[in-house]
Amino acid sequence: MTDKIVRPVKRLQGIVELPGDKSISHRALLLNAVANGDSRITGLSGANDVQSTAACLKKLGAKINKAKGGVIVHGVGMQGLHAPKGVLNAGNSGTTLRLLSGILAAQDFTSTIDGDESLRNRPMRRIIEPLELMGARITSDGNKAPITIAGNPLRAIDFASPISSAQVKSCVLIAGLYARGVTRVTEPYQSRDHTQRMLAEMGVKVHSAGELTAIKGPTELAARDIDVPGDISAAAFFLVAAALSQNSELTMENVGANLTRTGILDAMASMGANFEVLQQGELNNEPRVQLIARSSSLKGTTLGGAMIPRIIDEIPIIAIAATQADGVTTIKDAGELRVKESDRISAISDNLLRMGARVRELKDGLVITGPTPLRGAEIDSHGDHRIAMAFSIAALIAEGETVIKDVDCVGISFPDFYARLDSICSD
Ligand code: S3P
Repeated sequence: MTDKIVRPVKRLQGIVELPGDKSISHRALLLNAVANGDSRITGLSGANDVQSTAACLKKLGAKINKAKGGVIVHGVGMQGLHAPKGVLNAGNSGTTLRLLSGILAAQDFTSTIDGDESLRNRPMRRIIEPLELMGARITSDGNKAPITIAGNPLRAIDFASPISSAQVKSCVLIAGLYARGVTRVTEPYQSRDHTQRMLAEMGVKVHSAGELTAIKGPTELAARDIDVPGDISAAAFFLVAAALSQNSELTMENVGANLTRTGILDAMASMGANFEVLQQGELNNEPRVQLIARSSSLKGTTLGGAMIPRIIDEIPIIAIAATQADGVTTIKDAGELRVKESDRISAISDNLLRMGARVRELKDGLVITGPTPLRGAEIDSHGDHRIAMAFSIAALIAEGETVIKDVDCVGISFPDFYARLDSICSD
């Protein structure tokens, strides 16, 4: 386990190169693996989670080869995967386990998928229940990983998901590709829609109307070259870092700006952040922008309801911004944060208190009052990449030294995070 010392800096300046969007990278591999034909994926995230997806797919017989600027996926067709030798390891990645389960449920073999300690503690009933309704045969101990899936012919369902989760929605839709009839998923508020967009790119007729998505199966997928945009969830750390630092300006190019993901821009705008967004067109059905983030003076805001799925991964860094905002920031309706890679409500609150912030935990959110000067402290990352990165940004404006415990986890989504941070710091 590696610890990292982060010291305050005077200003941030420069261009930040971002990893490829993690959500889109997973989908590009998974869907092209069962498509007909070869595809080239450029801009693919090198994150450990995406490598977990690639490793599982290879174990299932998919061919994924490194190529110039990316990878080539040789699609094996919807039924072309074979039984894996041994257990599939999703590592820390909920997306790998939940989306891949949608494919495995319809294969004519049995497979077991497992993950690390964190993933083994995360709820899987949310996918087991709809997959069983579709006819899948799944065994697990208490609806937790490892789960064993005996593939079966599937039937279409009309599924009203009790939670807004793109992982659940995507799992059911992917299983729906194999099922006879129309599979419908509704969710309380719309979650990210990368699966629907990529399926449409691959020739599937997708009916999308906000919280409702429907597809008709069974259907085949046409392999599609995908250029993955930069990850807005990674950009969020630098957007906030520039806002909180004096005399700072950071530029990020080719940032994925799908409206189901841009809540961070709306949240920061509602806090009065100073940044510019320049359209850079659309590729593979996913819009991209240039972001220029500058020093800002922030005010408190309230974030809840339909906004939450649009900022679900950015709440740790928004909480850091809130400590420097004038007034109260309330984040509510975000109970899902308790079942992410760590209990993020408790991890944020505990670590913010260590740094001297004023924070109160809610069952489903946080109340943060600012502005408060932060002081260097020992931060427990809980092995959660977004907690480690959010508090590394907090450390840049804290007084004294901050020690972030167990930072290896940043590799889960952003292996070059500290290198990028070093390249823009000037003291
Ligand atoms: C993801 C969906 C979100 C998000 C996760 C990636 C995806 O999870 O938190 O980091 O790629 O579909 P939920 O859908 O479970 O909220």
